[in-house]
Amino acid sequence: LKAEALEKVEKAYSPSDLQDVKVAYLGKKGPITEVLRGMGKLSQEERPIIGELANTVREAITEAIETKKNTLEAIELERKLQEEAIDVTLPGRPVSVGGPHLLTKIVEEIEDLFIGMGFEIREGPEVETDYYNFEALNLPKGHPARDMQDSFYITEDLLLRTHTSPVQARTMEEYKGSRPVKMICPGKVYRRDTDDATHSHQFTQIEGLYVDKNVRMSDLKGVLNHFAKQLFGEDREIRLRPSFFPFTEPSVEMDISCKVCGGDGCSVCKGTGWIEILGGGMVHPNVLEMAGYDPKVYNGFAFGMGPERIAMLKYGVDDIRHFYTNDVRFLSQYHNA
Ligand code: PHE
Repeated sequence: LKAEALEKVEKAYSPSDLQDVKVAYLGKKGPITEVLRGMGKLSQEERPIIGELANTVREAITEAIETKKNTLEAIELERKLQEEAIDVTLPGRPVSVGGPHLLTKIVEEIEDLFIGMGFEIREGPEVETDYYNFEALNLPKGHPARDMQDSFYITEDLLLRTHTSPVQARTMEEYKGSRPVKMICPGKVYRRDTDDATHSHQFTQIEGLYVDKNVRMSDLKGVLNHFAKQLFGEDREIRLRPSFFPFTEPSVEMDISCKVCGGDGCSVCKGTGWIEILGGGMVHPNVLEMAGYDPKVYNGFAFGMGPERIAMLKYGVDDIRHFYTNDVRFLSQYHNA
């Protein structure tokens, strides 16, 4: 019996074969159990002899099964390792890494520049009330200058903000007319424009506001000059031209000289050699007053610029739609710019 069982163990090729052998020889209906169960019928003298014999046989078979089990497991492990082996000498598949959007980069660069001059970064809602978008900026209902910015209205009183200037009024209100304000606010704005190479119904702006005692136009010019040179290079000049915005008085538009230098010398990018990049001016007394600042004590300057324009100028992008159509071939060119 023992020899027969051991031979079967030897021949087992899988754990399930082994299990069969175990059940057949050591199981409840197996011969060993049968022998042990029949012990009662044996004489006093035979019992220990047969008992011991049965136990030795059982132990031998159990041990053989155990050993075989370990061997089978080792073989199985070996097989798996071979099957799953990785050939580290094969060339890897290239992984393409993404990067920040060109606009994000420009906005962050501009933020850093203004943080360096002591400005804080603020944000405001894109769905804005008529009050903050227009009224608080000296643009009462029916004011003709409202037409300068074609708006997306949601209700009679709610619209998608047409510029980031409402954040001027919101910030001043929050500071309750009692302390200087020095902030910039980047964000998305919306206008009812037909999209083309230079217009988009959604674009971004960065607003700037500095309110304190004795702020002068020359402070505005100094800040903008520093900003332009840091962003575009020391050889760039700025110029301010008179303009009109209802919320600033006087109002200006700022141009930057657009000499473009390359391998074969420098050329002027456009007819006049100047390109407009922002609007600004001295905060209108009505705007200060409505937001709770006494215009006899406080004054300030404000400006608003378009990061798309600036990115187009700095990186030679020829169509504003590139920023929004998400063509990776365009976007990935600037990952290391
Ligand atoms: N909000 C103006 C625009 O969108 C820009 C601006 C901001 C002008 C602040 C003056 C002061 O055209």
